[in-house]
Amino acid sequence: MAESAVKSNTSVSELRCIGCGRTALPDRFRCETCRDLLEILCPGWETAGPYGLDANSLKKRWADRRSSFKPVDLSGVWRFREVLPEIAADNIITIREGNTPVYELPRCAKSAGIKYLFAKHQGMNPTGSFKDTGMTAAASFARAAGYKWVACASTGNTSASMAAYAARGGLRSLVLIPDGKISWGKLSQSLDYGAITVQLKTDFDGCVRVLNEIVERMPVYLLNSVNPYRVEGQKTVAFELLEQRGWEVPDHIIVPGGNLANSSAIGKALREMRQLGFISRVPKVSVIQAEGANPLVRSVRENGGEKLIPVHAETMATAIRIGNPASWKKALRVIRETGGAVEQVSEVEIAQAKAEIGAEGVGCEPASAVTLAGLKKLVKQGFVKANEMVVLVVTGHTLKDADFTLKFHRGDLFEGTPHEAESTSLKPLQRSPLVLEPSVDAVIDLLKSAG
Ligand code: F0G
Repeated sequence: MAESAVKSNTSVSELRCIGCGRTALPDRFRCETCRDLLEILCPGWETAGPYGLDANSLKKRWADRRSSFKPVDLSGVWRFREVLPEIAADNIITIREGNTPVYELPRCAKSAGIKYLFAKHQGMNPTGSFKDTGMTAAASFARAAGYKWVACASTGNTSASMAAYAARGGLRSLVLIPDGKISWGKLSQSLDYGAITVQLKTDFDGCVRVLNEIVERMPVYLLNSVNPYRVEGQKTVAFELLEQRGWEVPDHIIVPGGNLANSSAIGKALREMRQLGFISRVPKVSVIQAEGANPLVRSVRENGGEKLIPVHAETMATAIRIGNPASWKKALRVIRETGGAVEQVSEVEIAQAKAEIGAEGVGCEPASAVTLAGLKKLVKQGFVKANEMVVLVVTGHTLKDADFTLKFHRGDLFEGTPHEAESTSLKPLQRSPLVLEPSVDAVIDLLKSAG
């Protein structure tokens, strides 16, 4: 049957305020009345599944698309298009995002004290981070809505992703990033993909403030993660993960927390999967922040999550160097609904976890490693049990921040910082590059001494 023949109005989506529930126009980011964030909902799903299809029909349809060569089917986001806002195929900008691997991490599992540990590696997306899954949706919406310009404030990955999708879709793009506080790799990506790239002498939160005013005054479409279409694209990671696991639900999903959109997106997907009958229970979603960029942890500990406590953020995991996260209410709802935890980890714990994920032949950027560091704490606290199944959402590729890795292995990452003394514990993990004369014997001697 042609797909259009089974269409009904059950998938007409609308934007609703997460606070007061009022509807909003499709290109808005906040409620006109209470200024809360918006989310995309399909009220028709309460009576019938997307396009009148039940979970089993959708599972089969999505699996069948794996043998198609249509660009929208090759995308690991648009393959799930029945649960996404409708965008005409000729406006869809795709670079084959999604379809990312799940790797088992046996040595990391052992180091954390559990049996079953997996990484859903979103760093294997086209621009090297999970941002691509959301960007394909929001950039496509921008094109469909007739925008010529898109813009974002970023700690580096959103900007790399936005620049790529804008270029592929024939849109102009403006990037605002904190001067000197993002990795060179990420900066170089947005230059390479042709964005107008501006380094502002402020932090990420300052860049957001400037950009929010710019988009009020200019016909520029905002692609930060307050954009509800980004959240829709990003939620497909959970559909894909569950599909990869034969729809068997893990016990825990652990996510790094920055602006807190990714945890919100994953939680939204789980809520929808349960509503639509894909799964009968949800995993606990836990969010891990760096100690120096811990507004959610502080808010939960100090006022039960009633009010956000913004912080001045400082961490070497620059991707999550965010003190005033926009999506904190959405993320908190997910943590509460699923029974997850909020935890924070130190700079040295992040560096150690990153090296351990690297030593599995997988690798990730520092922000992603907070997940393993956080898991270790959650196991010690008894929140995660030794025989439970855990999935870490690894958000960025190891090449995103090669500087960090080189400094770690050379042993100078923490030189002159308050963490210098504590960081001596990392020595056994360090493998600094060796320089030798071009002599066969010298290399053989080295091999022998390596044991
Ligand atoms: N991991 C990586 C690699 C990131 O780049 C980010 C956020 C996060 C985790 C946190 O995700 O914000 O949804 O809680 N990076 C943003 C950026 C903010 O501009 O690239 P979040």
